[in-house]
Amino acid sequence: MTAALRPGDPTIVNVALGERAYDIVIGRNQMAAALGTRAAALKPGARAAIVTDDTVAGLHLESAEAALAAGGLATCRVVVGAGEGTKSFAGFERVCEALIAARVERGDLVVALGGGVVGDLAGFAASVVRRGLDYIQVPTTLLAQVDSSVGGKTAINSHHGKNLIGAFYQPILVMADTAVLDTLPPRQFRAGYAEIVKYGLLGDAGFFAWLDANVKEVFAGGAAREHAIATSCRMKAAIVARDERETGDRALLNLGHTFGHALEAAAGFSDRLLHGEAVALGMALAAEFSARLGVLAPAQVARATRHLADAGLPVRLAQVAGNLAGDLAGGVPDADRLMELMAQDKKVKRGKLTFILMRDIGAAYIAPDVDPAQLRAFLVEKLDGQ
Ligand SMILES: NC(=O)c1ccc[n+]([C@@H]2O[C@H](COP(=O)([O-])OP(=O)(O)OC[C@H]3O[C@@H](n4cnc5c(N)ncnc54)[C@H](O)[C@@H]3O)[C@@H](O)[C@H]2O)c1
Ligand SMILES: [Zn+2]
Repeated sequence: MTAALRPGDPTIVNVALGERAYDIVIGRNQMAAALGTRAAALKPGARAAIVTDDTVAGLHLESAEAALAAGGLATCRVVVGAGEGTKSFAGFERVCEALIAARVERGDLVVALGGGVVGDLAGFAASVVRRGLDYIQVPTTLLAQVDSSVGGKTAINSHHGKNLIGAFYQPILVMADTAVLDTLPPRQFRAGYAEIVKYGLLGDAGFFAWLDANVKEVFAGGAAREHAIATSCRMKAAIVARDERETGDRALLNLGHTFGHALEAAAGFSDRLLHGEAVALGMALAAEFSARLGVLAPAQVARATRHLADAGLPVRLAQVAGNLAGDLAGGVPDADRLMELMAQDKKVKRGKLTFILMRDIGAAYIAPDVDPAQLRAFLVEKLDGQ
């Protein structure tokens, strides 16, 4: 990683994937400063189709268009509805047809301007339209800047579960302009922060300690926020470079996600429980379950949980039970229902549940055959509010 030299200089993290390597550019106002020139350098003469959602369009689309125009790129827009519902076959069809209708050609460019929903959807469309178009991620949520825009996982949801239809397809550039986060609702920022904490918990005790000392500054913005985003991207980039297709280590990035996805599914993938909120609670449960199995010291569980709770994130099932009881979800799930939802997760191999557990803060590991009975007993207890 190249560290920022002066205030105003970006931090550049390279994702070292050989021919498919690309830069993540992180810094305030970098979209205006560098998106156009970098896009033009990567794709001389290309037209850029900007895919965005209707919320982000009202806030940042014109700046993105101006930045690309400054680099000499002609642009067109594809605007989809905001929200997880857009990551569907219908949303996918709309984006593909709109790209084709706009006469986007093989040498042109797709620019995904938005959160993880737009990034996953536009990236997946880019992977198949005309058998593959290059694309740039311009993530506008904290979650997208530290997680979804990096690593090339693209997807839409199936009726059977989240992200079940997709492709590994790397972008050619990620432009994380931290100034666009100024318009993000605080709840969305907090949810994205859960993924930052994830990096500390899974692989970097020093980073976790730094977050513990600097959480207020990260929320306030400025240099601490950029450092947190850059450190997260550097860790994700390193893991992806080692294991692009998740045959090994990359699974560590799923810390908190097996519990989390089951809770999101129970909440009907709705605003009742945001992805990052589910992951925060999932990480707290993973830590507690690790302690239950005797591999993590209770004091470390308390440290991890306290940090998440202090950041305003949910850490106990009882805190979110009301959110899971919505009419779409069919009431508060019991342990068996949660087990069923976990079994639908694609991290299941031949019926055994694979969990990411923790030996220590900063030392997560892949546990490939968690005993369902032990897990069920743990969930029953947690649902009882213990
Ligand atoms: N591909 C991956 O590796 C990966 C990793 C993690 C998550 N994901 C996916 O990412 C998605 C979640 O992403 P998300 O949390 O960014 O959600 P999102 O894309 O739905 O964005 C959240 C909300 O914030 C709004 N928004 C976005 N940027 C804004 C801004 N700058 N100012 C104001 N509002 C803004 C959006 O319109 C939306 O309403 C999920 O579908 C998840 O599966 C993918
Ligand atoms: Zn996540």
